[in-house]
Amino acid sequence: MRINGQPWFDTDGNVIHAHGGHMLRHGEFWYWYGEDRRDDNYVSCYRSTDLKNWENRGAVLTVNSKTMPMPVRSDLTIKRNVEGVEDRIDGLNVIPASKGKVNIERPKVLYCERTKTFVMWAHYENGVNYSAASVCIATCDTPDGDFIYRGSFRPYGNMSRDCTLFLDDDGEAYFISSSRDNADLKIYRLTADFMNVDEDVRTLFQGMHREAPAVLKRNGKYIMLTSMCTGWAPNQCGFSVSDSMAGRWSMLENFGDETTFDSQPAFILTLDDGRYIYFADRWGGPGEKYFTSTYVALEIKFTENGAPYIEYCENSAI
Ligand code: DGJ
Repeated sequence: MRINGQPWFDTDGNVIHAHGGHMLRHGEFWYWYGEDRRDDNYVSCYRSTDLKNWENRGAVLTVNSKTMPMPVRSDLTIKRNVEGVEDRIDGLNVIPASKGKVNIERPKVLYCERTKTFVMWAHYENGVNYSAASVCIATCDTPDGDFIYRGSFRPYGNMSRDCTLFLDDDGEAYFISSSRDNADLKIYRLTADFMNVDEDVRTLFQGMHREAPAVLKRNGKYIMLTSMCTGWAPNQCGFSVSDSMAGRWSMLENFGDETTFDSQPAFILTLDDGRYIYFADRWGGPGEKYFTSTYVALEIKFTENGAPYIEYCENSAI
């Protein structure tokens, strides 16, 4: 049994590094993608048949990943030129210039049936500060192979930071991200190949500074979780409900307690048995503290009116 907020281990006995992550079911496996900031890594991948035993499939995106342009004119920089640059403090963050890394956060992966391609979208920053405010895309023919880096860009020129992907039952995919210096949250419908935004369908929570979006669909209703925007510190999560992605979303209501049980949403796991799991990060903090970050997984329950809620439990839901 895994304990929320304690280190979780893979089948080799090593600590799992997959933060701000996402899980994708493909064939007999669940694939868990997430941030891995160690060494030359950016995105790790683990797989499991039972959501309990996780086999490390290695880093699928690294500073050494191959790059390939796409029709969207994107910035292919995946490694910083660090000659003569020293480690420095940027706000609360220690920036290790020696690593020459950019910053890739909150990777999410969908499988595009039409192109038979695994498409990753993530938050891209230059590794020095959070001014790039862009999204990056990487693709692969297999779920756990070497992803090819396709570059970073701003959707319709909009800033884009914390983000998620959502695949609807009708095959339409959506990218949701914090925009305008995190003040607003944008929902975009993707092109058929999931490689670009195709429509700016909605701007939510104008001026409310929401982060960490995660979406589930239940009984035809869309439910979105978002956190407040307080750096690495946990805060009160909220939920909003809509009849469609492009429709009118309800006013935010609280989800969890004032720190969401010391966690911030990463994604929502939808299980075949009808359960939904709130999957979150319990962040260690900036710099080296980041590496002490852990996970929290709690079953989402619903009131008679369909409102989601969680109750804290030491044992993880997976
Ligand atoms: C909160 C975000 O949700 C995280 O992904 C990360 O960007 C931190 N802020 C950085 O302060």
